[in-house]
Amino acid sequence: MKKIQVVIEERSDEAQDVVRLALRRPDGESLPAFTAGAHIDLFLPNGLTRQYSLIGDVGETYCYEVAVSKVANGRGGSSCVHSTLNVGNTLDISEPRNNFPLQPGHNRFLFIAGGIGITPILSMIRYCERQGWAWQLLYLARSRAHAAFYQQLAAFGADRVRVHFDDEAGHFFDFSNGSLVVEPNVPIYCCGPAPVMKAVGEFSSSHPDNPAYFEWFSPPAGTETEVGTDQAAAAFDIKLQRSGKVLHVPEGKTILEVLEADGYELPCSCREGMCRTCETGVIEGTPEHRDYVLSKAEREAGRTMMICVSRARSPTLVLDI
Ligand code: FES
Repeated sequence: MKKIQVVIEERSDEAQDVVRLALRRPDGESLPAFTAGAHIDLFLPNGLTRQYSLIGDVGETYCYEVAVSKVANGRGGSSCVHSTLNVGNTLDISEPRNNFPLQPGHNRFLFIAGGIGITPILSMIRYCERQGWAWQLLYLARSRAHAAFYQQLAAFGADRVRVHFDDEAGHFFDFSNGSLVVEPNVPIYCCGPAPVMKAVGEFSSSHPDNPAYFEWFSPPAGTETEVGTDQAAAAFDIKLQRSGKVLHVPEGKTILEVLEADGYELPCSCREGMCRTCETGVIEGTPEHRDYVLSKAEREAGRTMMICVSRARSPTLVLDI
């Protein structure tokens, strides 16, 4: 994976426990172009790699902006950002990737953001504004103080930005009471914590005319693999195309873990099938996809897989490693 060195040009507090970082190349050259909904990896000083959505306008590649919410009892990524990254520091980032793009064919959108899930939605809103497309946002947050970018979003007006603060309302937003109205065929884009995603999933299933797209922070609870657990757990072999080496992937180990135990240093981040960092080409064999990022068409094509979670339906997979 190509890494880009950047320097932190700005750091600002955008809400309680949310910091915004503006990143630019030390030489001032442009950064790679990106599309609305894209994210980058930050290679953090503590050795962790974390993904953060790009919140800026897709036309502005002088700098990238990300916003990071400090996760209580997290695994060390957001706390490292909050405690160690300051103006003037340099760090490496990846080129942008987009697992949550705006799908073509629409010019009206309903965005639903929960908490820091506002970040990919921000770039989508900016893109809609640039295109002159119609959009509405439902922004849910624990409190006004936790709602990052609230002031700039509220400036669009209540007809476009509806907010719900749990503490002021005294309850979570109720998707079942009919107060959220969406016109037929308007796509729904949602990013937020699991309870919001679940509620919006139920809302969208009762609105079959509205395609719905989700970007998850963590694996959706209760998601099952496409095949039975016996097959999901079964052992198999991998053959590495470039060296011809064959390795056994036993029950209870992932392909990535087996490769790392054999001395390979491969790009990975979430280790949960959500970030696409470990995407690996499949030359022969049939993967059993267990990720949350490949499209249906990509799964069916079987040319690529996330080796941190996905397994095999065939006795051997030949991988492009
Ligand atoms: S490391 Fe994130 S999808 Fe594999």
